[in-house]
Amino acid sequence: MKGSGTGTAITGIGSAVPEQLLSNDDLSTIVDTSDEWIKTRTGISQRHLAPPSLLLSQLGANAALRALDMAGITASDVDLILLATSTADDMFGSACQIQALLGADHAVAFDLTAACSGFVVGLVTAAQFIRTGVYRNVLVIGADILSRWVDWNDRSTCVLFGDGAGAIVCQANGENDRLLGFEMHSDGSLAQALSISYNGQSQTLQEEVAIAQGNYESIKMNGKEVYRFAVAKVPEVIEKALYRADLTVQDVDWLLLHQANQRIMDTVAERLAIDNAKVLTNLSKYGNTSAASIPLCLDEAVRSGRVRPGQIIAASGFGAGLTWGAAIFKWGK
Ligand code: UT7
Repeated sequence: MKGSGTGTAITGIGSAVPEQLLSNDDLSTIVDTSDEWIKTRTGISQRHLAPPSLLLSQLGANAALRALDMAGITASDVDLILLATSTADDMFGSACQIQALLGADHAVAFDLTAACSGFVVGLVTAAQFIRTGVYRNVLVIGADILSRWVDWNDRSTCVLFGDGAGAIVCQANGENDRLLGFEMHSDGSLAQALSISYNGQSQTLQEEVAIAQGNYESIKMNGKEVYRFAVAKVPEVIEKALYRADLTVQDVDWLLLHQANQRIMDTVAERLAIDNAKVLTNLSKYGNTSAASIPLCLDEAVRSGRVRPGQIIAASGFGAGLTWGAAIFKWGK
């Protein structure tokens, strides 16, 4: 497991979504909305939703198995499993359950919460363990089942989200570090713009000893504020990550943004002067799948042959926290 520090390569990718579909027309029978409004304001046509029996850990494990298969390694080769999620099956986390489902006997596993930026944060974290020589094979999984946390009476949020998982295998790659640059930020003063907050009622256990007992609420979002934040911060963070990689926007083969809103993607591409033909998107079919959206989109692009080994991808995640970040990497070894 231990060795000298090396670069990182992303050698496998996989994804998994639940079979159940809910179209915009279906949604318009649940809340006061329309296919036309959802498509023009967001670009979303349908979303996949997890049935009650489906565990997030199972969805994540399914994506991970496909990524391992592509990388040509087995679960017992994995040293570390990082699960980026905000919707674990268990408050203590779901990464260890994924480890058990995969039979990744030697791996240490833990959850990482950075909402829709979670995948980028996970990739960067994986690379640090590889660069320091601590681990050689790291699974990074982005998985979320936000349908369990959406208020299905709130048309301003329930139309946006879908469920899914995506996973990558990061491997030690000698002198060839394919993670070329990254940049990450947080601003907790804007936390209220997008949250699933805990609502605890005070309960007195004995005189002068009180605790809180309660539940998490459903998603609350100030859509306009998050929109403004995204179109301002995402181009900036991508430019900074490119600068760290000693590259410019002209070097980017593919722009891969968190799939939240087509208008956000169009605006970011325009601000960076990146041609629309270089923007990877599958939002229309899946909605916003939070930590899963970037690997889910990349998986489709790799398997369809659009993204080829050696091409440069500028990926950026943004969302609750608020958090935002970008990673510039070459696909493959
Ligand atoms: O991963 C997390 C990141 N989150 C995001 O990236 C979300 C960023 N924000 C957005 O994508 C957009 O702000 C939304 C898609 C959420 C909303 O689009 P908008 O253009 O900002 O719409 P709005 O909130 O200003 O609402 C415009 C109108 C309002 O009606 P009035 O006040 O103008 O009469 C809303 O009540 O649209 C109404 N509305 C809807 N109408 C039909 C809001 N939701 C719906 C709906 N169907 N689902």
